[in-house]
Amino acid sequence: MELDQVKAIITGGASGLGYATAQKFLENGASVAIFDLKKSAPEGIFSELESKFEGRLIFVDVDVTDTYSVEKGLKLAIERFETINVLVNCAGIAIARKTTSKDGAHPLELYKKVIDVNLVGTFNMVRLTAIIMERNSKSTTGERGCIINTASVAAFDGQKGQAAYAASKGGVAASTLPLARDMASSGIRVNAIAPGLFLTPMLAGLPKEAQSELANQVVFPKRLGQPYEFAQLALFIVQSEYMNGETVRIDGAIRLP
Ligand SMILES: NC(=O)c1ccc[n+]([C@@H]2O[C@H](COP(=O)([O-])OP(=O)(O)OC[C@H]3O[C@@H](n4cnc5c(N)ncnc54)[C@H](O)[C@@H]3O)[C@@H](O)[C@H]2O)c1
Repeated sequence: MELDQVKAIITGGASGLGYATAQKFLENGASVAIFDLKKSAPEGIFSELESKFEGRLIFVDVDVTDTYSVEKGLKLAIERFETINVLVNCAGIAIARKTTSKDGAHPLELYKKVIDVNLVGTFNMVRLTAIIMERNSKSTTGERGCIINTASVAAFDGQKGQAAYAASKGGVAASTLPLARDMASSGIRVNAIAPGLFLTPMLAGLPKEAQSELANQVVFPKRLGQPYEFAQLALFIVQSEYMNGETVRIDGAIRLP
């Protein structure tokens, strides 16, 4: 897909990996609709991008778990960009809670919340955006769209306290192939990225010693991933038509203990 033809929705784009992806896509000529919760977007976060990439960026207050909110967001994005041909799902939440602890059993509502945002929210975006992509005219090679979901290395080696998170990300990874199969006849590719440890606001809040302890577990290079490296991979997937049905780890070879 030619990048100046890309009309992308990026969920979770107000922060971390999603924000870096929005920035990278805009720098490469794409138009971007960021879907995120307004309450999480720091005041003025988009003003620099908006003035630099005039007319190619919109922010829409969307909760990915709420169908009405997603449909409203999609309508606004189509009004602005006429169509959508790329979806990058970065919206997500992380919790750390053991199945049993001194506080008792893992609250079921907390478990359901993580599944709801990370897995159900991802599928909600996929199904509602794919229906729109199906209306796109085919490229010369038959392509109508490209979807990238965000899993995690926790899908494969989840740690203590990650039963809910790992289950949600395992679900995202496991969905990649059936989604790609479902969408194949429509010319829509579906891949997922499984990041290792990335320096986003989530990890940046940890003390420096804790950060370097985590970085030490990476095989090479011995550091946390930078959000732009995730964005580069997302861009590569959009441009690489033969990439389909795959969950790609980007993790400096880390295998969490
Ligand atoms: N940072 C890492 O090391 C890492 C590693 C593996 C996987 N991931 C995954 O990558 C994705 C992005 O993570 P990040 O580190 O950039 O996190 P982040 O917290 O910086 O950004 C996540 C964004 O998702 C948004 N969001 C949360 N719930 C939402 C909802 N219901 N509707 C719309 N938006 C919602 C938040 O407002 C936030 O802007 C997440 O799915 C996360 O699980 C991150």
